[in-house]
Amino acid sequence: MPVPQQVVEALRTAHHVFVLTGSGASAESGVPTFRDAQQGLWAEFDPLQLATPEAFLRDPSLVWRWYRWRRELVASASPNAGHVALVTLAAHIPALTLVTQNVDGLHQRAGSRNVVEFHGNLFEDRCFTEGCLVSNANHEVDVPRCAACGGLVRPGVVWFGEAIPGSAMAAAEAAAECCNVFLSVGTSSQVWPAAGLAETARRRGAMLVEINIDATPMSGLSHHVIQGKSGAILPELVDCLAL
Ligand code: OAD
Repeated sequence: MPVPQQVVEALRTAHHVFVLTGSGASAESGVPTFRDAQQGLWAEFDPLQLATPEAFLRDPSLVWRWYRWRRELVASASPNAGHVALVTLAAHIPALTLVTQNVDGLHQRAGSRNVVEFHGNLFEDRCFTEGCLVSNANHEVDVPRCAACGGLVRPGVVWFGEAIPGSAMAAAEAAAECCNVFLSVGTSSQVWPAAGLAETARRRGAMLVEINIDATPMSGLSHHVIQGKSGAILPELVDCLAL
């Protein structure tokens, strides 16, 4: 689907652009999305068994096996054309805030700077008891322990029922309040509070643009819906800007 001219014009004149990405932005890198039928991670595993603090306390070894599998999968993946296009887009706009729900670090590996990690980072380890970052956790054992307090070490991602890191929430809310264009890329817009950022931006007068292969709850709210893969649409959008 071609990029609407109004979107190109809005990006050309924007002072501040908000980009929110979800797991669809990494799909073309071979990282499974969460909710897509058949191939999503959640189709094979019950998230409630794996992505809550309660599940971790019930069976930390199972949860670690799953996260180590995800770490290996992501470590062998590479950024795709969509990730790269966002680096170029940032160079065209006076201010661009990139907020990602993805924990895979692929935006950073593509070269994006100051990425706001809304749901944490897959490769970080944290103390379950104190919440602090743990370096040099011993992954030779099933469930590592914090050297400082002896507590269980957990993956540094945000689980269901947990708060978004305060600095990420503040940065995202501030950008949603003042952006001129809000680009939602490859997210099902079903998980809050991330899904609410678009509404904040719209209330403050921003143009909402959705890039997704399917319709989502945000589609009806959006000024423009560009149906297609982010790895194709984002480079096209950047090409249009450069013309
Ligand atoms: P979902 O799996 O819920 O949604 C993925 C979205 O990407 C869907 O709307 C797909 O249609 C779309 N999609 C798939 N491939 C695409 C492509 N190549 N280009 C564009 N769009 C594509 O993933 P998220 O919205 O990221 O949270 O899920 C949000 C959060 O739910 C995740 O961060 C995770 C999960 O629970 C936590 O782990 C806390």
